[in-house]
Amino acid sequence: MNEMQEKAYLPTKIAGLELHNPFCVGSGPTVKTTEMIRQIDEAGWGAAFIKLTIDPEPYINREPRYRWWAKDKLHTFTAEKRIKLDEALKICEEGKKLAKVTKIMSNITYDGPDGVEGWVRMAKAFEDAGADGNELNMCCPNMSFNVEVTGDEIKKCTGASMGRSPHLVAEVVRAVKAETNIPLFAKITPEGGNIAQVSKAAFDAGADVVSSVGNRLGVPPIPDINNPKLSSQMLQDEPSITCLSGPWLKPLALRDVYEIRKYNGSLVSVCGYGGMAKWKDYIEMTMMGADLIGMCTETMLRGFDFLHKEITQLKKYMERNNYATFKAMRDTIVPEVRTAKSLHLTEAVAIVNEPKCIGCELCMPIGHCYAIEMKEGKGWEGKNKKGIVALVDAYKCTGCSTCFDLCPTDAFRWTSVPKDRTVIPV
Ligand SMILES: Cc1cc2nc3c(=O)[nH]c(=O)nc-3n(C[C@H](O)[C@H](O)[C@H](O)COP(=O)(O)O)c2cc1C
Ligand code: SF4
Ligand code: SF4
Repeated sequence: MNEMQEKAYLPTKIAGLELHNPFCVGSGPTVKTTEMIRQIDEAGWGAAFIKLTIDPEPYINREPRYRWWAKDKLHTFTAEKRIKLDEALKICEEGKKLAKVTKIMSNITYDGPDGVEGWVRMAKAFEDAGADGNELNMCCPNMSFNVEVTGDEIKKCTGASMGRSPHLVAEVVRAVKAETNIPLFAKITPEGGNIAQVSKAAFDAGADVVSSVGNRLGVPPIPDINNPKLSSQMLQDEPSITCLSGPWLKPLALRDVYEIRKYNGSLVSVCGYGGMAKWKDYIEMTMMGADLIGMCTETMLRGFDFLHKEITQLKKYMERNNYATFKAMRDTIVPEVRTAKSLHLTEAVAIVNEPKCIGCELCMPIGHCYAIEMKEGKGWEGKNKKGIVALVDAYKCTGCSTCFDLCPTDAFRWTSVPKDRTVIPV
């Protein structure tokens, strides 16, 4: 083992596979060549999923056009290249020969005339090429699903178009599982709004792991509002609905994993994708139910060698909190999640700590709050030029907490509701 691989060691077992750690490079532009697999392996990743392989021929295949909107922590693209079966099998074979720690997995879609048999054929071809597992792509929102969203008629039903249907997913999973011996991952989409139900269909049909893709389709930022018809992607003339990924996605991605875990119970295995960047993200993702953590955008931006540094931080956290394994953290938050009806709410009202108030009045215009007004006062000495400070009327404060989040100086505190307050403020 090299130094990075040693530092990245956090052994994890899933679907019978012994992984170096629970971190996977997701299928995408960073798993497209044997050289990339070499780099992924040297950096000590647990698994790598080869770029989407389509048989017979990728029916939408364009030179890539990617944008990273750093301020929004958002990645967008529509034009993308997929790979052919023979290319992918070669990457798999060569990758298997050189990889010392990383498991090599496929990511496949069949869209030819043979239906389910075609999927089985592809999966078997990867098994024969030495793949450690197969992943069915029931998730890509950027092929037929984008065609649907953009209003054109679809001739093919692949990726997210397919992954919305429990029946279609189950049919392919069942057939592939019956004919192959390596672990089977089903990577599914949240676009149909029923990711939990589709994942159940996949597990019932025999999937060993469900991966939640994380990404969504959406409209990218318009870079120049004076030329609104221009594309947001460089070297692309027209606007397009784009595939969205990266850290902005995390709250939605965590919800996907939570839903899958909650609906399917603790015995199934889940790989969570979507906006995973830093070690704290990995903890949140596993606490919401993921066994494995998948990343794509982060590897596009940072390469592969960052992993061991994040794992080092993660291990320190685990040690501090007495988690012996990564799995020990899994599902921690899942049973705690409540709906509004059964939440326990603490009664309190806001109060301003006057020596911290700079009189900026940022808390004044809050549209749903009748409780704050400005009064004369000294406030933060030297920093309060206007000689005014905020004052909260405890009889009108609902305890919503918006002022806490708006105040630049953290001047708000909580205090008890006045004992004689009988009317609940609106
Ligand atoms: C440019 C790009 C290409 C992708 N290609 C594939 C693909 O071929 N197959 C697949 O299953 N997922 C693909 N994905 C989805 C990622 O693997 C991942 O599930 C998703 O982007 C969310 O994770 P992230 O926020 O870490 O990128 C792609 C994502 C990006 C950004
Ligand atoms: S907690 Fe809400 S209601 Fe109370 S002062 Fe702040 S913004 Fe107003
Ligand atoms: S936002 Fe904070 S600093 Fe500004 S006026 Fe309100 S309490 Fe004072």
